[in-house]
Amino acid sequence: MKKLRVGILFGGRSGEHEVSLLSAACVVSAIDKSKFEVVPIGITKAGRWLTAGDAELLLQGKAAPVQSHLRAGDPDATPGAAVLATGQAVVVPPEPQRPGGSLAAFQSEALTRRASDRAINVDIIFPVLHGTFGEDGTIQGLFELADIAYVGAGVLGSAAGMDKDVMKSLFLAAGLPIVKHVTVLRSDWESAPKKVQKLVESKLKYPVFVKPANLGSSVGISKARERKELAPAMEEAAKFDRKIVIEEGVGGKKHKAREIECSVLGNDKPAASVAGEIVPGKEFYDYTAKYLDEGSQLIIPAKLSKAETKKIQQLAISAFKAVDCSGLARVDFLMDPKNRKIYLNEINTMPGFTAISMYPKLWAASGLAYPELIERLIRLGQERHEEKKRNQYSK
Ligand SMILES: Nc1ncnc2c1ncn2[C@@H]1O[C@H](COP(=O)(O)OP(=O)(O)O)[C@@H](O)[C@H]1O
Ligand SMILES: [Mg+2]
Repeated sequence: MKKLRVGILFGGRSGEHEVSLLSAACVVSAIDKSKFEVVPIGITKAGRWLTAGDAELLLQGKAAPVQSHLRAGDPDATPGAAVLATGQAVVVPPEPQRPGGSLAAFQSEALTRRASDRAINVDIIFPVLHGTFGEDGTIQGLFELADIAYVGAGVLGSAAGMDKDVMKSLFLAAGLPIVKHVTVLRSDWESAPKKVQKLVESKLKYPVFVKPANLGSSVGISKARERKELAPAMEEAAKFDRKIVIEEGVGGKKHKAREIECSVLGNDKPAASVAGEIVPGKEFYDYTAKYLDEGSQLIIPAKLSKAETKKIQQLAISAFKAVDCSGLARVDFLMDPKNRKIYLNEINTMPGFTAISMYPKLWAASGLAYPELIERLIRLGQERHEEKKRNQYSK
């Protein structure tokens, strides 16, 4: 049987570039090579695309196991970094129905190669990209234009899942429990900060969390415990987005929220994994706690009652459907430790995907091992592409 050619796309322009290199390294080393042929495709931090070229050879060797996040950018440590260091640059316009691959490279530094060699010749793309330009619908738009199958949520699900303001509107419309929040524009804040402060204080109690609407990895997020911390928190968030979401802190002044996560897998009939809990080593799960210290703990399964677990799983599936997701998503919850009230915090359509990340670990604990999970995601991507082919685009 002919092996399916899977383009593993990694890196990218987001703040989670390094995390993507780690996730991709794990996918490349775990994917079943008897069924799939891996085509690594790197995107530099500046947004330049690089095809494997000679770097593909590196991938056939022993892809170094992921030791530490700090070595993500070292060519010896992750195959992704090696591709970024030695791959050939290409410019990639979409070209549906092009023989030999629908992402056609029309320019290459390797001018001596035949044009047919320069197309990115893959059957499906697995965008192992987190955050902006990877998880927000933009790259998914390129795949749609190229009519190429890909893993994960489509344009709408990705974009809706990325924007915390739109996501909350969709959750509310679906009747799902979220914390009280206010959304303001950066321009509103800049022109009338006092008015914004009044609005926030009329709707929410301190502490509040102030977040840029479209980002991830806790970048730009701060906790304002009282009035004097609101302005600096707003200024920080305003660096990253024109839309700022302010929400009431779960747990109030005295308690930390419990952080429960659940993995969802599927297309039209998604399934939920067991729930897991994160115990951040810091006051909240900020960027340092996520990637830089060892102090955070994952507890699988989360210590919840049967009924609570069931509720989390149902809410996770509802959240997945509410943003029109497909393939995979990790759905994150906040629980008030005093009254055990559960709030939906967010959905991540391309969650951290190293072998030790929460998303795959929750599936492993639910009986689906990492290599099988990768295969399942590829099959789901193919299935959705086939399903979409049934649509007519004109009469
Ligand atoms: N309303 C809230 N109440 C309590 N903690 C919160 C709240 N919102 C965010 N946090 C804390 O901040 C972290 C990051 O916020 P989150 O909305 O998940 O952003 P990101 O998309 O960057 O992960 C959460 O994991 C949690 O620790
Ligand atoms: Mg989060």
